[in-house]
Amino acid sequence: MPQQQKIIIDTDPGQDDAVAILLALGSPELDVLGITAVAGNVPLRLTSKNARKICELGGRPDIKVYAGASRPLVRHLTTAEEVHGRTGLNGPTLPEPTMPLQKQHAVDFLVETLMSEPSGTVTVCPLGPLTNIALALIREPNIAKRVQRIVLMGGAYFEGGNTTPTGEFNIYVDPHAADVVFRSGIPIVMMPLDVTHKALTTAKRVKAFRDLGTPVGIATADMLDFFERFDERKYGTDGGPLHDPCVISYLLKPELFSGRECNVSIEITSELTMGMTVVDWWHVTKRPKNALVMGDIDADGYFALLVERLGRL
Ligand code: RIB
Ligand code: CA
Repeated sequence: MPQQQKIIIDTDPGQDDAVAILLALGSPELDVLGITAVAGNVPLRLTSKNARKICELGGRPDIKVYAGASRPLVRHLTTAEEVHGRTGLNGPTLPEPTMPLQKQHAVDFLVETLMSEPSGTVTVCPLGPLTNIALALIREPNIAKRVQRIVLMGGAYFEGGNTTPTGEFNIYVDPHAADVVFRSGIPIVMMPLDVTHKALTTAKRVKAFRDLGTPVGIATADMLDFFERFDERKYGTDGGPLHDPCVISYLLKPELFSGRECNVSIEITSELTMGMTVVDWWHVTKRPKNALVMGDIDADGYFALLVERLGRL
């Protein structure tokens, strides 16, 4: 087997985060060095518990889970219980976790790991607000030249926002953190709503998870049945966008995605467009191309990968 990709998943589970974590756990190409929880979809107390619930569902109580920031750098925390439910993982009934939460703070884990692993060998995979990543960069700027790349779910451009007309949730919740990350110089691969809105959890696709007949498959179908209802009502679609597993899928099969290198700048001053990812798609400015912005996805290939890998758990 080729050299495993070392990754750190930063996350605010969240049902779609949960499927992304399960995909990583079901993929031997990936070595999950740790999972860092951040406040986002629900408060940190729940995201750090949910991450452990999912590791145990995936049969990996050995994974180290760390709690990070309980609020954004500057703004008050905005959560999304209306989408994810009060627990953040509404849908299946999952047991309370027995695996421990690590004592070390997530930001300290990020800095320590990125400073000790060989430079350029660790990919950071943010699936929620970028608060932990920004705090790590502020605490130890030298990690910027040691991170291999950041592959994140966040932002939107042609698609518009899902939290405000211009703001996608992960970036909107902590725009100042996103500004720090997008200015860091670290190579970024961005999975915006422009891509994730093309990856809908249709009834047929949810059935494929349920038909696995395993605890993981059934729990995943129950999570998606709950998670999708908000977006189905909002967009009038069959299914909702399955955002976060796009990040892990890119590590496994980048050919499922297409996009272009662009400058992405973050709005941090206007309340009207706070948290907007301003994508210079047509290169009309001289701003540096700091991100590979994805625009398209092979949705059938994406769901086939998900079902196959979750079927291994
Ligand atoms: O806008 C979608 C993103 O916000 C996803 O990561 C979802 O889990 C929420 O965090
Ligand atoms: Ca998320």
